[in-house]
Amino acid sequence: MIVTVASFKGGVGKTTTAVHLAAYLQQKAPTLLVDGDQNRSASTWAEGDKLSFKVVTEAQAPKYIRQYEHVVIDTQARPEQKDLEALADGCDLLILPTTPKALDLDALLRTVDVLSALGANFKVLLTIVPPLPSRSGEEARKLLVAAGLPVFEGEIKRLVAFERAPLMGVVVNDYPDQRAQSGWEGYEAVGKEILA
Ligand SMILES: Nc1ncnc2c1ncn2[C@@H]1O[C@H](COP(=O)(O)OP(=O)(O)OP(=O)(O)O)[C@@H](O)[C@H]1O
Ligand SMILES: [Mg+2]
Repeated sequence: MIVTVASFKGGVGKTTTAVHLAAYLQQKAPTLLVDGDQNRSASTWAEGDKLSFKVVTEAQAPKYIRQYEHVVIDTQARPEQKDLEALADGCDLLILPTTPKALDLDALLRTVDVLSALGANFKVLLTIVPPLPSRSGEEARKLLVAAGLPVFEGEIKRLVAFERAPLMGVVVNDYPDQRAQSGWEGYEAVGKEILA
């Protein structure tokens, strides 16, 4: 399974998603994370050697890729339309994280026009969803479904652990905080949907 994580908008949780899905998939079969972002956020996250899976750059990917069952590709924000076509063509599933914020949803809906036209296999993931009493996650989901988009049932809550985990070089499953576990369960649910 080759999964690519992309978005037009920056800061919507692409790298967080790529790292956590790679950690989930690694529990099932050997998984490689390809860091396709020049900022190298995923590579920096991996620097302490505490992640359970291997992280390489795109330049290294051709050599490593054949040794792995699953590959997760993290990308940089704001791809050109041509880049997006190539990204969609280069994977089995394109994951498009978005927060429930109106501006992020707006950017996503523009991305999706292009993808639908291409007949790409993509699925939207709601990330950084604020806790109740905010209803923004629920409202965003309704809007996306009404627009006819495929949306993961699983979604990712807004949790401080997601901000802190990279500083410790771990995934939230290994982050010492009780609430972090519910963040991991979110990515577990999404991982199950991917492999279903
Ligand atoms: N579920 C979450 N809860 C709280 N904070 C989160 C969550 N997911 C991501 N973040 C934080 O939001 C910020 C952006 O996340 P991330 O780096 O994963 O996004 P990105 O889309 O890869 O950004 P970029 O476009 O810059 O590559 C980071 O500070 C990250 O720690
Ligand atoms: Mg990133």
